[in-house]
Amino acid sequence: MQFDMRALPLPARYKIINSTVTPRPIAWVTTLSTDGVRNAAPYSFFNAVGDDPPLLVLGLLKHPRHGGMKDTASNIMATGEFVVNLVCEADAERMNRCSVDAPPELDEIEYAGIETAPASVVKPPLIATAPVSFECRKVAALDIGPRQTVILGEILMAHIKDEFVIDAAKAYVDNPAMKLIGRTHGSGWYLRNGDAFQMDRPTYDPDWRERQ
Ligand SMILES: Cc1cc2nc3c(=O)[nH]c(=O)nc-3n(C[C@H](O)[C@H](O)[C@H](O)COP(=O)(O)O)c2cc1C
Repeated sequence: MQFDMRALPLPARYKIINSTVTPRPIAWVTTLSTDGVRNAAPYSFFNAVGDDPPLLVLGLLKHPRHGGMKDTASNIMATGEFVVNLVCEADAERMNRCSVDAPPELDEIEYAGIETAPASVVKPPLIATAPVSFECRKVAALDIGPRQTVILGEILMAHIKDEFVIDAAKAYVDNPAMKLIGRTHGSGWYLRNGDAFQMDRPTYDPDWRERQ
């Protein structure tokens, strides 16, 4: 079956993407407004897209009720800074609490009972319980269509909790121990990071036809 994404109504387009592009990592983004109000919110239209410079991408949809920017997008556009914190199982409920449609003047970090730590080079705080936090600066913002802003951020500083660093000199990190979670299909479904398998990357065999 084919779905013409150009003709489908918006909720159906969202469902097609949400229920196929899985699992998605979750960026738990901390920002500050120009007035200094602290904000935290989860975004799973998120991924790493490069390493020179180290780049992350966030897909920020417009607010479903008033059609303006969500607080995270307004804050990033106004200040150029944000922190992407990765979400572990123990933080799942606090992360979820941050997805409420709260007024912009609410300190969502206090509302969700989040413990913070100061960042090194940007103003928004780190989430102290997150296994990994990336301090970022906005390098580009693309408004593609009326309903979304895509933000590209350069990672300036990566924080990984000591207990997950196996060998700092070689940058070996114990990913399974972090117990990160991701979004999967359907409303409110999540995945634990626990069913990995390994495949070595093959080299090209110029005689591959003959071997068939
Ligand atoms: C796990 C999860 C992932 C989400 N991913 C996105 C996303 O990628 N883009 C988006 O616009 N909203 C996403 N949301 C909804 C926002 O978190 C929600 O609209 C929130 O209120 C935005 O907060 P803010 O206005 O403080 O930025 C997600 C919610 C959850 C629970």
